[in-house]
Amino acid sequence: MSESTTDFRTIGLLGFGTMGAGVAQVFAASGRDVIVLETDQARIDAGLAAVGAFLAGGIVRGKVTDEEKVAILARITGTTAATDLSTVDVVLESVTENAEVKKALLAEVAGVVGEQTPILTNTSALSVTDLAAALPNPGRVAGLHFFNPAPVQATVEVVRALQTDDVLVDRLVALVDTLEGKVPVVVADRPGFLVNALLLPYLNDVIQEFDDGLATAEDIDVALELGLGYKTGPLKMLDSIGLDVHLHATQAAYDATVDSRYAPPPLLRQMVAAGRLGTKNGHGFRTAAATQESN
Ligand SMILES: NC(=O)c1ccc[n+]([C@@H]2O[C@H](COP(=O)([O-])OP(=O)(O)OC[C@H]3O[C@@H](n4cnc5c(N)ncnc54)[C@H](O)[C@@H]3O)[C@@H](O)[C@H]2O)c1
Repeated sequence: MSESTTDFRTIGLLGFGTMGAGVAQVFAASGRDVIVLETDQARIDAGLAAVGAFLAGGIVRGKVTDEEKVAILARITGTTAATDLSTVDVVLESVTENAEVKKALLAEVAGVVGEQTPILTNTSALSVTDLAAALPNPGRVAGLHFFNPAPVQATVEVVRALQTDDVLVDRLVALVDTLEGKVPVVVADRPGFLVNALLLPYLNDVIQEFDDGLATAEDIDVALELGLGYKTGPLKMLDSIGLDVHLHATQAAYDATVDSRYAPPPLLRQMVAAGRLGTKNGHGFRTAAATQESN
């Protein structure tokens, strides 16, 4: 491990789902040890398998060697006992997006780790200030918001809660700088932080345009990809995020702000109610079935 990566040597990661797996890989690739807390062994196995599969894809593309894959996986350990986190240098929670679940788990983990051990959250839509207020020593709490897929997306929002110590913000910026290809952006704690505060209303507007019959789903995506140089069209992006996930995020932002830009469009609610969740179940804006039915 190089001198620059010696801060935060051991990461206590909570949750080994979509984001937990990606974030575990990113930290392990930087030479750090990662201990992941999950609810059961099956989820630990699934998380390790997800990291392994992602790295195997990297080998095929010539971006990762066999040796690197073995070394990265060897630095990730799973546990179902919070007490195994007693010596970690930092805690990063990436569990289910539910304030009560997060608060209960963070309170338990705060009772195990050191009194000043930084506690970070990867939440997309919850208030970091609110989570910090529920913990002892809230100055050691901040957001560290990765984007999906974490090993690929460069931006990492370092979220300063009202209580976050300045020195912790500086340490987190330095930490992100040691992660390959990652770029830290310090942002204030407001619903959606910086990126999603802009993205959520944009996606809502696009859904409304589609519902108004302005253009086909495919043409909307093509127009934005080719017209504005966006890598992924908005309806394709919605399918990949998951319509239920987007509904949850935009509803949370609306509840927190009562800003009509975040109000979920009626078609979004209907599609989720009808079980059309996007890529994850093959029914979304850009799947053949949904496009035919909508046109
Ligand atoms: N998916 C995304 O695109 C994305 C992007 C950025 C941030 N986030 C945020 O990351 C967090 C995780 O999202 P995700 O998409 O990985 O969710 P996910 O549902 O894929 O994974 C959540 C994991 O948390 C585990 N978990 C739940 N309660 C637990 C507990 N008490 N102890 C240990 N583990 C527990 C679950 O077993 C599950 O494996 C959320 O806060 C979400 O807002 C998600």
